[in-house]
Amino acid sequence: MDFIRDYADWFYLIGAVLFILTLRGLSGPKTAIAGNRYGMIAMAIAVLTTFFVAENPVVWMIVGAMVLGAIVGIARARTVPMTQMPETVALMHSLVGLAAVLIAVAAIIHNNELAKLDVGLLQANGVNFHEMSKVHLFELFVGCFVGAITFTASVFAYGKLAAKKWAKTISGTWVKPVQALIFITMFAAGIHFFLTGNMTSFWAMTGLALVFGWVWIAPVGGGDMPVVVSLLNSFSGWAAAGIGFTLENNMLIVAGSLVGSSGAILSYIMCKAMNRSIINVLFGGAMGGTAVVVDTGDKAPRNHRSGSADDAGFLMSNADSVVIVPGYGMAQGRAQNAVKELANLLKEQGVTVRFAIHPVAGRMPGHMNVLLAEADVPYEDILEMDEINSDFPATDVVLVIGANDVVNPAAKDDPSSPIYGMPILEAHKARTIMVIKRSMATGYAGLDNDLFYNDKTMMIFGDAKKVVEDMTKAINGNGH
Ligand code: TAP
Repeated sequence: MDFIRDYADWFYLIGAVLFILTLRGLSGPKTAIAGNRYGMIAMAIAVLTTFFVAENPVVWMIVGAMVLGAIVGIARARTVPMTQMPETVALMHSLVGLAAVLIAVAAIIHNNELAKLDVGLLQANGVNFHEMSKVHLFELFVGCFVGAITFTASVFAYGKLAAKKWAKTISGTWVKPVQALIFITMFAAGIHFFLTGNMTSFWAMTGLALVFGWVWIAPVGGGDMPVVVSLLNSFSGWAAAGIGFTLENNMLIVAGSLVGSSGAILSYIMCKAMNRSIINVLFGGAMGGTAVVVDTGDKAPRNHRSGSADDAGFLMSNADSVVIVPGYGMAQGRAQNAVKELANLLKEQGVTVRFAIHPVAGRMPGHMNVLLAEADVPYEDILEMDEINSDFPATDVVLVIGANDVVNPAAKDDPSSPIYGMPILEAHKARTIMVIKRSMATGYAGLDNDLFYNDKTMMIFGDAKKVVEDMTKAINGNGH
């Protein structure tokens, strides 16, 4: 164990480099598996080094905690469906927040115990500043309240995404003033603790931060939760980095900063792809969440054309090029394997088949990429929005599977639309458009979609998986 202690900085440096390589690896599907492995090695190095750097490590606790964590983690990773990934991530962030709070509390209680040994220096009902510098106190104060906010906000995000009854969205004119009041009181208590070391203020700050995390996130609509989860990811990183300073643990500072900055960048990218600002997502705006922008219904009924899976199969097998646009409905209907089979069959018939991915298709970053990778769709067939958009005018058939907002032309043509300015996949420019969905219902943004009423569009109603399987059967010639 002395060996680990002597070379701790070197181990931390290796861990930090591996964490950077992890993020690099996770930036592309081909390198993602290697990225994950770097992360696992880095985390093992970080945990073991941190534990054995201590003077007298309690080995049974270390091993026990690691084994217990591994059992829960592996069991969850094996059973969680891809569609429940966002709430699982939210739950994991809550643990980071809780850890930050517990470390801050432990550090302060530990310091108080030390202070009690030196009774002469103990202030009445206060922390002994001779033991803890102002800088440390500041780190604890920030790490603790950011951690507490992250904890309850993440628990709420989990509940909301998992459709739990207790995670109710709150609304009303009282919400913002109450949020402001709690935040200001929390901050004032924190400052008082920082200046005087008063423990009552510390507990008040922590309690109010826990309440604030909840009331801050509770008004955010369910559909905006992925952005919130990514932001909380960032917060949990900053809380960890703050606590890293307190514990003088370089690894925690580096890893926390990496998580903090990557989460912030991801939140920014998601907001940009939705043409929203982070303030708009967090404090309500045009959409305010799921399907708030409801069609007024005063428009004349519009006509759309519908067709069968057989018609669609026939048209596609006679095309030169097909572009598949997957969206949330493909994930919801778990249709990715059926889609891959359809693509393979078309390719066997000499059709060029490619997939077009919008950055916010689905409900979490990289949602479609993950599903298509799970179904073993070759990476070279998967193109990002900027790579494929110029190809749509020369595409014979575009097959939209459970996507709606990401192909809504209003984002380009209608300045009055709430999604105006959001970049879209320009499916409307293809020669023939086919859309699989169950009804004419709106998508996440709650907006009608002109694409569905386009003269070139054929709607094929039904569950994504069933319709795609029927198309495959039709092309195989053993359909109905
Ligand atoms: P949406 O606009 O939400 O549309 C999905 C469509 O799929 C719905 O209109 C629905 O119509 C259909 N559908 C649902 N289940 C289906 C099933 N089993 N079979 C067939 N169709 C089904 O999805 P999108 O185009 O992927 O756009 C994503 C939206 O989510 C964007 O507005 C984006 O801003 C938002 N968002 C994304 C993220 C990330 S990071 N991806 C984060 C937050 C918000 P029916 O009900 O008629 O079937």
